[in-house]
Amino acid sequence: MATDASSADERLQFTAEELLADGDYREPLIANGVRCHGGFGEDGQYRSPRTVVRRPAIRAWQAQLARGGAPLIDIPRELMPPQYPNVEQSVLLLREGVRDPIVRGLTIISIVEGFGAIIRDVKVPKLGELVVEPLEGTALAHLRRGLFEAHARDEAGHRDQGGHKQMWEAARDLALENPKIPRDVLMRLMGRRGRRKPAKRPFPEIDEDLERMLSTMAQVLVVEVFAEGAFEWGKALLGNAEVSAEPERASEMVRFIQSDESPHVEYLRTALSEIRARTLRTVHGGTIPGRTVVDGLLHRILSQMTRNRPAEQREDARKSLSEAIEAASNQKAAKATKAVVEEFESLETSWTPPAKTGFEPTPAVEGAQ
Ligand SMILES: [Fe+2]
Ligand SMILES: [Fe+2]
Repeated sequence: MATDASSADERLQFTAEELLADGDYREPLIANGVRCHGGFGEDGQYRSPRTVVRRPAIRAWQAQLARGGAPLIDIPRELMPPQYPNVEQSVLLLREGVRDPIVRGLTIISIVEGFGAIIRDVKVPKLGELVVEPLEGTALAHLRRGLFEAHARDEAGHRDQGGHKQMWEAARDLALENPKIPRDVLMRLMGRRGRRKPAKRPFPEIDEDLERMLSTMAQVLVVEVFAEGAFEWGKALLGNAEVSAEPERASEMVRFIQSDESPHVEYLRTALSEIRARTLRTVHGGTIPGRTVVDGLLHRILSQMTRNRPAEQREDARKSLSEAIEAASNQKAAKATKAVVEEFESLETSWTPPAKTGFEPTPAVEGAQ
């Protein structure tokens, strides 16, 4: 039935300008004195930036995927490692005046959010030549047409507007009253990243730029889904009046950032699901099911992150904790410091990653083509 009531839900093609468009806000979001993206509508509710067209567009691509019978990728939440230190441990540290590990942890979150801007530098190869089936009216066709750019702006800010980086800094500074930031946060973070060995290409049979793009998207998707743990932690900790100077404003800020993340998770899982439902051309003139590549990449990333991330977070927090305690013990009685460490350890969350990621390669899929 052709009607003039066609909504954005039925459209599948959009311009970059549309996907980057903001709605009208009654009031902008000012975070600890910094003008940020997004704002408040007539109803006083926070509205995420660049979502008036982007959200319905993603819904429309997802609906089209469903009409084609293709499932939407879902990263199981059970795979998400717990935040370290956990909320109770973090409250304990702040209450006891051991603030550095928390200030450091919050600063790392803000830096990692800012790193999100690298998504705009991801090279998108000529997908029409590398994918067998058509791509019109998909999220894939819009990666360079607004989706990557909107994502980058949300994370790192754009022009005079702060993004998630600045919003996390504001949440930290409101709650902890502009704490002194340890000077080596970035250096230590980069050092850890630099220690990782360059990985061997998992799918050398496909175009290298395509493999890199899909791999980055899969990696960012997992990071975005797992960030949920950091948001819940941030809201609980910075919203705790016992240890936060601005519990309402600080936890609200984390809530705003959290709500801005859903379009990231949604467009990434949509685009990866679109590839998963298609066939990729190999460099040798053959083909490979998109599902083999997407599941293979996700399985690899999920296995690594569930195994390594908890240990890395723990190692980082432990290091700054022992430094902070050493510094504190000059002023405080050594006995009291020891009691804090013991209590900290007793509050530890134990966690074992699930045995399966859910994206294990299956012989049936491998042999499908
Ligand atoms: Fe973000
Ligand atoms: Fe994000």
